[in-house]
Amino acid sequence: MQMLQSSVGRKLVMAVTGFVLVSFVIVHLLGNSSVFVGANGLNAYAEHLHALGPLVWVFRLVMLAVFALHIAIGIQLTLENRAARPIDYNQKKNLRTSFGAETMIFTGLAILAFVVYHLFHFTMHVTNPEISASALPVDALGRADVFSMVVLSFQKFFISLVYVGAMVTVLLHLSHGIQSLFQTLGCLTANTLPVMEKIGRAAAIVIFVGFISIPVSILLGLIKV
Ligand code: HEM
Repeated sequence: MQMLQSSVGRKLVMAVTGFVLVSFVIVHLLGNSSVFVGANGLNAYAEHLHALGPLVWVFRLVMLAVFALHIAIGIQLTLENRAARPIDYNQKKNLRTSFGAETMIFTGLAILAFVVYHLFHFTMHVTNPEISASALPVDALGRADVFSMVVLSFQKFFISLVYVGAMVTVLLHLSHGIQSLFQTLGCLTANTLPVMEKIGRAAAIVIFVGFISIPVSILLGLIKV
């Protein structure tokens, strides 16, 4: 806990928790891509996850702690930085920054709002109970029909729009976040920094395209129940 008392320590915790969260997002994207295989792909993947039993809850609690730390320290660092800002925000011109870097706190809070909605939608089946895996009949192999839940959800234009909008905030957050975490972890030198900025942005774009390809393919009728 002493680590959280220095601002270097807090940045380090931001980087490590950020790394864990990006890793989760990449694994989640790979798992979700099984929707392109059809019901057999996504339902089998969801069943394997749920079969992990108590391990799923250990994983969820660890991820919750990581997410909560990342958010709490992110808010604290932003407030500290604002208080210490030597010049008026409007006059700041020459500092090397980007839109993604300047909006980290806003895109971060938007992602928090999205994750809360997402859990109510696909995990707790609260927002659209009529097309949730707990209301739909099981599939031909007796598994919860997560595939139909996802397809019927994204066939609703407004739900797809919310997801695509949320993925834009993920794109902005990661386009600065990936490069920043490697910089904090001390992996970057003056020479490698510009390269890593490009790799970070490219990775954020790949993650964005990967996620939005799901609602977009469903809206276009390429994936159907
Ligand atoms: C098109 C985009 C996405 C789709 C289709 C999708 C799909 C799903 C589905 C179907 C579940 C429920 C799995 C189950 O209980 O069987 C789920 C859970 C979850 N998703 Fe997503 N997801 C998307 C984007 C995201 C993003 C961008 C994040 C994080 C920023 C995220 C974070 C989570 C979390 C934290 C859970 C709960 C995992 C658990 O139950 O332990 N998802 N997602």
